[in-house]
Amino acid sequence: MSTPLEPTVSVLLDSDWASGSLVEDVRRGLGSRPLTLPPKWLYDDEGSRLFDEITRLPEYYPTETERAILARHAADVVAASDATTLVELGSGTSDKTRMLLDAFTAAGRLERFVPVDVAEQTLRDAADLLSRTYPGLAVEALVGDFTLHLAHLPARTASGSRMVAFLGSTIGNLYLEERRAFLGALADSLEPGDWLLLGTDLVKPVDRLVEAYHDAAGVTEAFVRNSLRVLNRELGADFDPGAFSYVPFWDGQMERMDLRLRAEAPQTVRVPGADLVLELGQGEEIRVEISTKFRPGLVAEELAEAGFEVERVWDDGDGVATGDFALTLARRR
Ligand code: SAH
Ligand code: AVI
Repeated sequence: MSTPLEPTVSVLLDSDWASGSLVEDVRRGLGSRPLTLPPKWLYDDEGSRLFDEITRLPEYYPTETERAILARHAADVVAASDATTLVELGSGTSDKTRMLLDAFTAAGRLERFVPVDVAEQTLRDAADLLSRTYPGLAVEALVGDFTLHLAHLPARTASGSRMVAFLGSTIGNLYLEERRAFLGALADSLEPGDWLLLGTDLVKPVDRLVEAYHDAAGVTEAFVRNSLRVLNRELGADFDPGAFSYVPFWDGQMERMDLRLRAEAPQTVRVPGADLVLELGQGEEIRVEISTKFRPGLVAEELAEAGFEVERVWDDGDGVATGDFALTLARRR
């Protein structure tokens, strides 16, 4: 058995960057109405742990559904492409990704795996585990922001193309304009012939969607509420998370879940690290996250607009886009 290669971890976000960028985001998001917070701040150590717990909730179907699609089709994904580098954006624990890594390894094709995430400790732990599990594989982790750092993805090697996996429907957490900008920047960072493997959660009956984000055990609520604890710790804010109720609802017009925290009583919140004092009226809401759900045609349209051509789509339905979740393999034109 070969000796595991040591993983490398490059940090594109220095420790000040996190608080610096959080300050800007908080000034932008809480400095004017409607009040919003960008979801990347949900993933401190506690947020990453809570998300992991969410993926095991009976109501939260996306993770297991995507896992089932990968279990069935990972070998097809590998066979349909000629990639020798796999990049994963928002990789988290890279748990489901092992099915792709297994299929690439079985095909004897993978040289490098490049997981990218803002959650540094989660990424380091995942990189260590993957290096031990796949001893011949070079694991080159990047602590970075996929909305800012796509130009830092490693270049193609002489031996083959790159595949960028963006799983879990994390793309649905971006607003429409951010999604466009992200796909455009991703296309710019790739070369013709490189690949994108995109997981998208699909529009489905409202009750199932609402249940998935309002679980009986209250884990999603704790995950969303944790955003206020991040602001208290990082910016010296004095949010009382218990003074807010959790309000998840389906926005039928935008076709997205909208996850908010509502002030139960009028309150003044100080955020010294962002030079901000927030006067909240009773019932006033902060939108902490959106989770857009997709129609298959929309995914293809947005990919085409950005410069990708859809090669294959797999879902958990009958193969004509009737499932809960879709996995799209697209090629950079
Ligand atoms: N891909 C995994 C994890 C999804 S959770 C899955 O499918 O289960 C979303 C992940 O994206 C978290 O690990 C979070 O830390 C990361 N993330 C969120 N915003 C990010 C950003 N702007 N840049 C890099 N990583 C981000
Ligand atoms: C990471 N992302 C795709 C999750 C989602 O479903 O939008 C985050 C999440 N938020 C609450 N539950 C899960």
